[in-house]
Amino acid sequence: MTRYPLSRRALIAAGSLTTLGALAPGSDTAARTSSASHQPADDSPSALRFPKGFLWGTATSAYQVEGAAREDGRGPSIWDTFAETPGRIRDGSNGDVSVDHYHRYKEDVALMKGLGAKAYRFSIAWPRLLPDGRGALNDKGLAFYDRLVDELLRAGIEPFATLYHWDLPQALQDKGGWQARDTALAFGDYAGLVARKLSDRVGHIFTVNEMQAFVEHGHRSGIFAPGLKLADAELNQVRHHAVLAHGLAVQAIRANGRSGTKVGPAENIIAALPAVETPENIRAAELATREMNAPYLTVMLEGRYTDAYLAGAGADAPKFTPQDLEIIASPVDFVGLNVYSPGLYVLASEAAPGYSSVEIPSSYPRMASAWLTVGPETLYWAPRHAAKLWNVKDIYITENGASAADQPAADGIVYDIDRVMYLRNYLTHLQRATAEGVPVRGYFLWSLLDNFEWADGYATRFGLVHVDYATQKRTPKLSAAFYREAIARNAVA
Ligand code: FCB
Repeated sequence: MTRYPLSRRALIAAGSLTTLGALAPGSDTAARTSSASHQPADDSPSALRFPKGFLWGTATSAYQVEGAAREDGRGPSIWDTFAETPGRIRDGSNGDVSVDHYHRYKEDVALMKGLGAKAYRFSIAWPRLLPDGRGALNDKGLAFYDRLVDELLRAGIEPFATLYHWDLPQALQDKGGWQARDTALAFGDYAGLVARKLSDRVGHIFTVNEMQAFVEHGHRSGIFAPGLKLADAELNQVRHHAVLAHGLAVQAIRANGRSGTKVGPAENIIAALPAVETPENIRAAELATREMNAPYLTVMLEGRYTDAYLAGAGADAPKFTPQDLEIIASPVDFVGLNVYSPGLYVLASEAAPGYSSVEIPSSYPRMASAWLTVGPETLYWAPRHAAKLWNVKDIYITENGASAADQPAADGIVYDIDRVMYLRNYLTHLQRATAEGVPVRGYFLWSLLDNFEWADGYATRFGLVHVDYATQKRTPKLSAAFYREAIARNAVA
């Protein structure tokens, strides 16, 4: 059983950093304070509690953690190709080995269990199952997910699978990638296959992770795979194919999965926040949120592109049929929201479009990734807006977390009090949402482990568990002790 270095009581009792140092994994103190019979601290009457049954989990994705890039018949993905291209990844690294989750999944499931986590969100690598994107199933690739799912179930951890976390089979990219409508059809077929093979044990499936991120960064700015900088008309068509793929996958899962299998997207909603909380500014923030997500969540949940989106695109608007819109808006069981930074702050305005945005000043706080501005209230507004705008009845926070500098101390432990600060504040705002009845059912912390952070390579760390990339040694950080306490108390701790 994986040991966690610090219990909350031990922290309070310890009182000084020197004493904390004695709580390194494996030490006598660690054994005494981190046993499976860990008892949470007493709750104060005003503890910020989450609803009964709230699902606490962690998240990862295939390319970021699995490694084993050429093992057991896995085909190449666009991220393999991209990472091999000089200058694309900050530290010149790739996901060939990463944190070797493919071979170390048992140890990683034990780490989840040590946290008390009840759910795990992982992604399935499309090129492991279908090395060319379509055609015959690669049994060995599927066998890995069978092993992982069975291990999770044995540990009492519910598996939540994401079908697409950006690792498109290179063979499909060679045929046009997301610029080709055919890729959306291939995705539907792949979704049906996963549903047939895994929905006997996996009850929740996310279609696409962060469409907005992989489309815009991969096809407009070019900082993500496949590294394209498309003109507007082509970009809008890629956006359309992405939402179409989502809709086709929803239908394929309904047609092929065990009855009752639940499905929805995991989207990084751009949440507009009222700069000052007044009824007018809140209304403005809702308006802005609907427009900012027009080609993604809005069309998926409303079945239409907004007038402003189509007017803004003009002759470059996507080409689509009414039937496409019906597919795109296939009813979902839940909406997953990835929430990190505020999308924008707004104030109400008399002038169209009814809001003005407030620029983020240079002194605004950030974590260790340049993009990660710290706006804890985003975790209140994002689900509240989704529930209000689209009447969503079940919401999961499918990602939230932070990068930090993460230097192990002399005793080997990372005392990431900055990540703890981030999490405590974000969770406080999430608790406000649940207390007000916003239907958030669970929360997946990004990430269980340090891992390959896309274009930033291994330069930024997001894990609750530190990984020494040279030895693959896993060591829970202070934030893991914090999260374990929150889970045990079902409250912000
Ligand atoms: C999200 C991605 C995830 C991870 C986190 C930090 O945008 O979905 O893979 O990189 O950011």
